[in-house]
Amino acid sequence: MRNLVKKSIAILALLGIFAQVNAQDSFIYQDTILKGEDGKSAKVYVGVPLLIVKDLGKEVKVSIKGYIFGDEVYNTKTKDLLIAKIDNGFKVNKKDEQVELIGTLSKELVSADLGDIWSEHEEFYFEMCTQCHAGPEVNHHTMMEWEAIFGTMKGFAKLDEEEASYLLRYLKSNSSDGLVKTKH
Ligand code: HEC
Repeated sequence: MRNLVKKSIAILALLGIFAQVNAQDSFIYQDTILKGEDGKSAKVYVGVPLLIVKDLGKEVKVSIKGYIFGDEVYNTKTKDLLIAKIDNGFKVNKKDEQVELIGTLSKELVSADLGDIWSEHEEFYFEMCTQCHAGPEVNHHTMMEWEAIFGTMKGFAKLDEEEASYLLRYLKSNSSDGLVKTKH
């Protein structure tokens, strides 16, 4: 009996850990400003994964990791995708090769619902990119492949610069090695 209780407690503890991990599997809902502890801020972009460090009621304290080059933070060392741009003086924690940005955000700007986060981008993608062929599966290409393909296709779809960067962020974030990493 005592063993059973012990086992149950161990299992509950494990479940607790998993539930926590899932709860922290969240992303930035739309381009926004992350408020740092020192009054400085950083621009962070839609779809960027984050860890919720602390629930502050209406706001959450979050951690975002990446590789820093000057004031720009990328998801990889090869600068595949810009995930944040920091103010002069924004303090970052160095963690091995990576840096960690800590700051607060309104809870409404954090979501685990990827379908909801990307729904407008997806709509725009199908509108712009299915005029000549069926919409290619976004996660069938890597970030680098999308960068290359997009060079030609943005001209084909007659996108202006703003539309192009909006769509390219969607494609890269949802690519096979993207921020979402969903491989169907
Ligand atoms: C005006 C017509 C047209 C539009 C609009 C268009 N494409 Fe294409 N697309 C093509 C043609 C033609 C090809 C095949 C020839 C080529 O690869 O250049 C192609 C090929 C592709 C391929 C396959 C390339 C490969 O190497 O596997 C992808 C992926 C793609 N398009 C994505 C897009 C995306 C994303 C958009 C929207 C931004 C888009 N296309 C808009 C005409 C178009």
